[in-house]
Amino acid sequence: MKLFDVYPLMDITPVSALGCYITDREGEKYLDLYGGHAVISIGHSHPHYVKKLYEQLSRIGFYSNSVINPLQTQLAEKLGEMSGLNDYQLFLCNSGAEANENALKLASFTNGKQRIIAFGKAFHGRTSMAVGATDNPAIQAPINQNHQVTFVPLNDSRAVEVELKKGNVCAVIVEGIQGVGGVRVAETGFLKDVEKLCRQHNALLIMDEIQSGYGRSGRFFAFQEAGIRPDLITTAKGMGNGFPIGAVMIAPHISPRHGMLGTTFGGNYLACAAALAVLEVMEKEELIENARDTGAYLLAKLKEVKGIKEVRGRGLMIGIEFDHEVSSMRKALLQKKKIFTGLSSTNVIRLLPPLTLTRQMADTFVKALAEVLEDN
Ligand SMILES: Cc1ncc(COP(=O)(O)O)c(C=O)c1O
Repeated sequence: MKLFDVYPLMDITPVSALGCYITDREGEKYLDLYGGHAVISIGHSHPHYVKKLYEQLSRIGFYSNSVINPLQTQLAEKLGEMSGLNDYQLFLCNSGAEANENALKLASFTNGKQRIIAFGKAFHGRTSMAVGATDNPAIQAPINQNHQVTFVPLNDSRAVEVELKKGNVCAVIVEGIQGVGGVRVAETGFLKDVEKLCRQHNALLIMDEIQSGYGRSGRFFAFQEAGIRPDLITTAKGMGNGFPIGAVMIAPHISPRHGMLGTTFGGNYLACAAALAVLEVMEKEELIENARDTGAYLLAKLKEVKGIKEVRGRGLMIGIEFDHEVSSMRKALLQKKKIFTGLSSTNVIRLLPPLTLTRQMADTFVKALAEVLEDN
């Protein structure tokens, strides 16, 4: 059998990784500023994380959600404490798309409505409603187009109000910082307006923090910059540092009932052990603070580089926009400078490094970028 060929591949075969570096099969070492697409939060193969996973696997790796699993409660408590959202409830699943699918379903269960408001350039995943709420018809099959989704421009609260007034809106779904859309920040005033408008119109506010959450923005969740309290928060990626885990955090006013949501693998012992280890390292090594400080340092340095159209983002979620395509530059960074970067559309380099990035690594990148720009 051969692989179903859906991914355009970079010419690199990583075989090992540690901290902010990956090593390929020729033994070449690369600085990882992509973090496997925002997944590597505490650094590759962190010793505490490796130890916790080994230990857990040697005790029990899996049982279904029909038994008591104390690790789930421990994770809920630790996540509540570290995010400052102690009074929320936790539903565990396996991926970002699944978290959004469950959040949208839960919104509709709660208020009985059917429409979704999403935003221009949004990306929420590949499952049916998640991709339906994604602003990219090329990845929606005809079967995904039956959901009632209206797209309005990001940061346009008036447009949200107009749509809410038409009625039947179950949820407004917003990324804390748009990732795939090119690192576009949901502004504070806009988020405050949307929170208020959702309450007025009995629609639920879902913050998709799958890419921007878990410390990446320099706060636990990017929306916390705006001081709002969403009804539902979705998270995945950095949560397990590579072990598949996702979650919906659910405001206290939403009541569960048995059978409402469910999953076979969600919240399994290994996933919880990975997620707990991530939170322990984040706390001990003060990685949220590091993301804020190193991110601000890197953003400021990038603003001094000539030839860049715009630098956007917060913390260690940074978009560098050019007025030309960046694929050859990205290739040069990889091949000549041994630095792995991400991409948004065709003209934005996206940085999503481990939250352990140092200023020295940031300097290495800025110097390499300036040199590659000069060569191009
Ligand atoms: C903001 C956002 N939401 C949802 C998803 C989907 O997550 P997953 O690929 O784990 O299903 C992604 C993935 O890139 C994302 O960036």
